[in-house]
Amino acid sequence: MKKQFIVANWKSHKTTEEAKDWLTEFAVHSSQIAGDKEIIICPSFPLLPMIAAFIRQHHENFFIGTQDISPYPEGAYTGAVSGKLLKEFGTYAIIGHSERRQYFHESLEDLSKKVTLALSCGITPIYCVSKKDEKIPAGVKIVAFEPIAAIGSGAPEDPTMVEAIASFIKQKNSVLYVLYGGSVTPDNVNTYTSLSSINGVLVGGASLSADTFADIIQHA
Ligand code: PGA
Repeated sequence: MKKQFIVANWKSHKTTEEAKDWLTEFAVHSSQIAGDKEIIICPSFPLLPMIAAFIRQHHENFFIGTQDISPYPEGAYTGAVSGKLLKEFGTYAIIGHSERRQYFHESLEDLSKKVTLALSCGITPIYCVSKKDEKIPAGVKIVAFEPIAAIGSGAPEDPTMVEAIASFIKQKNSVLYVLYGGSVTPDNVNTYTSLSSINGVLVGGASLSADTFADIIQHA
């Protein structure tokens, strides 16, 4: 069976109380979640210990991802969170999300450093690209293809196009898995996860409700 990753990217949403409520709601569904999918929750940094405690109690197929990682090792880099610390909580790190590139002006050079750092700490990058022929740093095994116009717009990319681009990315790089992201919902998720070159989804807005995210996992 094809390996699948279902990733919740909470972005800059949720206070501690809101995250607690999400976990309480999600726990109701967690026993029904099939063991063949890896569920990765990517919260804001301060929520990591709480999510880690939840995951320890609940399910062996749940993992933590971070939404970013410092391009530098631990040291005098004010405001940056080192891979060494993140590794205490997370298995994965989203790197190169289009919002990081747009609002934080991250360059390919920054992103390559982040990938190298993550790999040196034993963290698996989930590297985001929004175009077919974007450069993917060496060592990346999981790519999320997220066309900018599809993110948060309610207008997901055409599945035929997604399949063609995912297959191209796999052929041109030593990438093992390609995920699709952009306006994924419980109603459309299977359209993407059933594509032969797609190995899961990266979900933003629809992951903010525990019930909706659980629905996505079940329909994936
Ligand atoms: P969306 O976001 O599901 O809200 O479109 C996806 C993403 O930005 O990762």
